Amino acid sequence: MFRKLFSMFSKNLAMDLGTANTLLYTQKDGIVLNEPSVVAVDTDKGSVLAVGREAKEFLGRTPQRIRAVRPMRDGVIADFEITSKLIEYFIRKVVRGLSLSRPNIVICVPTGITQVEKRAVIESAHHAGSGDVFLIEEPMAAAIGAGLPFSQPKGNMVVDIGGGTTEVALITLSAIAYAESVRVAGDAMNNAIQRYFDEEFQLLIGENMSERIKINIGTACPQREQLVAEVAGKDMVSGTPRVIRVSDGHIREALADPVRTIVGAVRKALEKTPPELAGDIMDNGILLAGGGSLLKGLDELIHQDTGLRVRVDDDALTTVVRGTGKTLDDRKYYSLVYIN
Ligand SMILES: Nc1ncnc2c1ncn2[C@@H]1O[C@H](COP(=O)(O)OP(=O)(O)O)[C@@H](O)[C@H]1O
Ligand SMILES: [Mg+2]
Repeated sequence: MFRKLFSMFSKNLAMDLGTANTLLYTQKDGIVLNEPSVVAVDTDKGSVLAVGREAKEFLGRTPQRIRAVRPMRDGVIADFEITSKLIEYFIRKVVRGLSLSRPNIVICVPTGITQVEKRAVIESAHHAGSGDVFLIEEPMAAAIGAGLPFSQPKGNMVVDIGGGTTEVALITLSAIAYAESVRVAGDAMNNAIQRYFDEEFQLLIGENMSERIKINIGTACPQREQLVAEVAGKDMVSGTPRVIRVSDGHIREALADPVRTIVGAVRKALEKTPPELAGDIMDNGILLAGGGSLLKGLDELIHQDTGLRVRVDDDALTTVVRGTGKTLDDRKYYSLVYIN
């Protein structure tokens, strides 16, 4: 009996369809796939050349007829066909690898996804061989993943900073009471760094390089030690490769705008929070999740700005998929959090 139940559950999948990264999870094995949400397309033939990690290497390196696309980049599905291909490719890869047959799947989508987009996601999952398909919103999944008391009559504030979007949500009684979404997150930070090098040093750098700089020496407020990096790019005047040395202060200046927007979104959500729930947040603080929340000192800055306790989830890049996966444990208990 137990074994039968177990094998029944272990057939289920959870998917975090992120703007930057897609993750898949099974109850038995935890995270079984973690790859960039990128598809490389041959525009002449209309065919898919690569998906995921391999396709990310194509970004900024493609000849004219190849395009590396991030179809979810802005938290909305910009290209249905390519998004479907991505969903299908990843589900098939996992289903084949684990020899699952018609697994049920819970997919985590951005808040504010339209009816048409929902249908596209569900259809793609069916097409890839899924059984039942359920959808859950990102901040809810993050709250569950971080172990917050999402189903109680208490206010929980979650800030999920991904690649394309920052979602701030107030959760109570298994529902999102208020959500604020801005299209400023990790990608905007990368772009701000690129722009800064362009303007300050007349140095052109690629997106993968600017992301590396952000991760290595990016900060939202000064840290104990100074951080430095060597940055390789292309001199705008001579057109030749050039290397320069920069420190965390430069990058903090570069990141000031996107960081201010993110902190502003948190503030706005707090202003909209009804008094009772605001009291709960005073007690429990704010939870940060998503890769963007790993920017050094961002938690500290939000704390300084709001006076509230701020905690970054232990494994911020996987909070959402773990929360999505947790709903597989007891579909009845979690039924309220599904949005379809
Ligand atoms: N240590 C880090 N510091 C700052 N940003 C990071 C760090 N690690 C990852 N990121 C950024 O997090 C973003 C991806 O976060 P993720 O939660 O996977 O996004 P999404 O859910 O939108 O797919 C990227 O912009 C990436 O550069
Ligand atoms: Mg995410």
